[in-house]
Amino acid sequence: MNIIFLGAPGAGKGTQAENASAELNIPAVSTGVILREEVASGSERGLKAKSFMESGGLVPDDIIIDIIKQRVAQPDCADGFILDGFPRTLAQAEYLEKSGVNIDLVIDIHVPDEKIITRMGGRRSCLDCGASYHVEYKPSKDAKTCDSCSAELVIRKDDKPEVVLSRLETYHKQTAPLKDFYEGRGKLKTVIGQEEVADTTRLTMEVLKG
Ligand code: AP5
Repeated sequence: MNIIFLGAPGAGKGTQAENASAELNIPAVSTGVILREEVASGSERGLKAKSFMESGGLVPDDIIIDIIKQRVAQPDCADGFILDGFPRTLAQAEYLEKSGVNIDLVIDIHVPDEKIITRMGGRRSCLDCGASYHVEYKPSKDAKTCDSCSAELVIRKDDKPEVVLSRLETYHKQTAPLKDFYEGRGKLKTVIGQEEVADTTRLTMEVLKG
């Protein structure tokens, strides 16, 4: 089964993709996590992506498509995968179709902008393994370190309030139109993001299990 998680920045795509990955035993592929790894390693791709990410814009399609092409060709994606944060533009969605990747289901996690703005202030991230926490809704065992790999937890540079606003604007202009694209193909299901992570997970699982 190949699944896409759509939704605004901070809607909970990464959190739900991780849960669905464990439940369905297929990998969650996050372009955001891969890009942050590229930036941290100082790769050519990372250097090109950095300024777009830090300003709240989108990384150019050719870089992202290259990343996805390589990632979904890995053996662990052979029985299905979950795309978290891809596609984000019409050109990326059209690339997926042209490349013959069949998408079974697109889940849009809907959370109003006002809620996202307050929620993002509490996110803490592990830049080593990509895990994401929330001081109130999904706390790590120790406030300062990652439960999975013990690395230090930080506030992502693009979680600064002014960058969050710019990411939301980018989302509404460039990514939200993909809802119509997938609705037209009969693949879109919407989950209303809830106050508690576990409640959104329950609703997401109901959609996944049809
Ligand atoms: P990316 O890392 O994908 O960022 P994003 O889409 O902005 O999404 P986030 O990771 O911020 O949020 P999320 O929806 O995964 O929410 P999360 O589960 O963490 O991309 C970063 C940047 O890379 C982009 O801005 C862009 O520049 C670039 N990029 C990536 N993909 C690209 C592409 N395809 N094309 C071009 N550029 C691309 O949850 C957020 C917080 O809320 C967490 O703290 C979580 O614990 C908490 N939370 C989650 N669910 C709930 C809940 N139900 N109740 C309360 N709290 C919750």
